[in-house]
Amino acid sequence: MSTRARKQIILAAYVGGVNEHTAWEHPDAGSQIAFDTFRQVAQTAERGRFDYFFLAEGLALRERAGRVFEHDIAGRPDTLAVLASLAAVTDHIGLIGTLSSTFNEPYELARQLASLDHLSGGRAGWNVVTSWDAFTGQNFRRGGFLTREERYTRAEEFVRTVQELWDSWAEDAIVADKQSGRFLADDTVGRFSHAGAQFDIEGRFTVPRSPQGRPVLVQAGISPQGRDFAAANSDLIFSPFSRQPEAQEFYADVKSRARSFGRNPDDLKIIPGAGFVLGDSRADAEEKARHILEQQLSDKAVQVQFEQLWNRDLSAYDIDGPLPSIDPDPEAPPIIQGKAFIYQDRFETVRRWRALAEEKGLSIRGVAAEVSARADFIGTPEQVADALDAFIQNDGADGVVLGGHVTPGGIDEFVDKVVPLLQERGSLRTEYTGSTLRENLGLPVPERRGALAATV
Ligand SMILES: Cc1cc2nc3c(=O)[nH]c(=O)nc-3n(C[C@H](O)[C@H](O)[C@H](O)COP(=O)(O)O)c2cc1C
Repeated sequence: MSTRARKQIILAAYVGGVNEHTAWEHPDAGSQIAFDTFRQVAQTAERGRFDYFFLAEGLALRERAGRVFEHDIAGRPDTLAVLASLAAVTDHIGLIGTLSSTFNEPYELARQLASLDHLSGGRAGWNVVTSWDAFTGQNFRRGGFLTREERYTRAEEFVRTVQELWDSWAEDAIVADKQSGRFLADDTVGRFSHAGAQFDIEGRFTVPRSPQGRPVLVQAGISPQGRDFAAANSDLIFSPFSRQPEAQEFYADVKSRARSFGRNPDDLKIIPGAGFVLGDSRADAEEKARHILEQQLSDKAVQVQFEQLWNRDLSAYDIDGPLPSIDPDPEAPPIIQGKAFIYQDRFETVRRWRALAEEKGLSIRGVAAEVSARADFIGTPEQVADALDAFIQNDGADGVVLGGHVTPGGIDEFVDKVVPLLQERGSLRTEYTGSTLRENLGLPVPERRGALAATV
C-alpha cells in the first residue's frame, strides 16, 4: 500500500427486485414493491452514513421460452417514483437511479432528475445504462434497432444534451425581488439549442439550476465502449468486479482511461456490487453463506443461468449431474428474454465452466454456486471490516453497493456491526460531511457551460 491518506469507503445500498441473488423464500423476506421496504433500507443505510441508495432498472418481465419467469419476484416499481418518495423520508443519503438512455428522451429525463435534485436538496444521481436487448425494446417500439455501438453513440449525445439542459439556467437566474417585482435576472433563462445526429431540440428548460448543478452521473457497462464512456463522462462506475484480480485490473484500466481524457482519476469512483455474510466465527459465517446460496440457487434459477449461456432448452439435464456436452446455439432465437447477458464471450465462458467442473468435480449446480457466489465478504464483523477495508485501500474499488440477500432487513446487521468498526479505523465517516451527494462523495461540481445563455 502507498503512503497516501486512507481512502474513505463509499457505501451504497440497494433493493434487488427481480434478481436471482434474492432469497425470496426466506421467512424474513418481505415485499419487493411496498414503500415500507424501500423506506426501511434507505433509512437503515442513512443510519450507517451510507453515501447513497441505489436502484437498478428492469423495463420488462423476463421470460423463458415465451413464459414469464416464475421465480422472479414481482416488483420493480418505477425508479423515479421510488426515489422521489424516499426523498421525503430521508435527509442526507444520496438517491441514485438507473435510467436507460436508449428508451428515454433527454428533455424528459433531464427534467425529472433536476426535479429530484431540487426535491431532495441535492441528492440525485443517474446511472446511465444503454439497455441491451430487443425484447425489452419491444415495450418501447424500438425492438432491436440499436447495436451496442449505436447505443453508446446515442448515450454519449444523450448525456451531453442532458448536461446542456441542466446548464441552461445560471445559479443566480432567479432574483425574486418582491420589492421591485423583478423575478428573473434576465430573459436568457433556460434557453437551449441542441442540434446533433441523435437529437435536434431547442426551447427553454423548465427546471431552474438544481442544488448539485448537475446530478451525479454513474455508468454501468464493461465493454471498451462502456469504459471509455465512463472515463470521459461519469462520476461513478457501477462495476461487477468485486474480487481480485479482476477488480484491481478494472480499477487501474478505467482510472488510466480517465487520465487520458484529461481528468483527475480521483474524480471517477469505482463501486462494484458486493454481498456479505456475518457470523460468530468464520466457520459459522461460511455455513450461513452456504445455506443462503442454496436458497438462491433454486433449480429454476440454475436452469435459467445455464440456458441463457447455452441458448438452448436444458430442461432434460439433471441439475445435480454433469454439464451439457452440447455446444451453445447463439443463432437460435433467445430462449431467455429480458435478463442482462453478462458474459463477454459465450463459447469461452462455456469452456471455462467445463474446465472448472472437470477440475473440481462439479455438477451443474456446483458450477452455478462457484460462478455466482455473491457473498464476497464472509466472516465475523471484524473479519469483514478488515477484508472490505483492505479491498478498498488496495485499489480494488472505491466503495461497494451492498445488497442484502433478504429484503428489506439484509443490511441491518452490517450497519449495526461492521459500520462502527470501519468508523473506528477511520475508513468511514461518522457524520455526513456535506449537504449534497457530490459533497459527500468528494466530487467536484462540474463547471457550468453557459455559452448559449451568454450569447443570446
Ligand atoms: C453492473 C451492471 C449493472 C447493470 N444494470 C443494469 C440495469 O439495471 N438496467 C439495465 O437496463 N441495464 C443494466 N446494465 C446493462 C447496461 O445497460 C449495458 O447495456 C450493458 O452492460 C451493455 O453495455 P456494455 O456492452 O458496455 O457492457 C448493467 C450492466 C452492468 C455491467
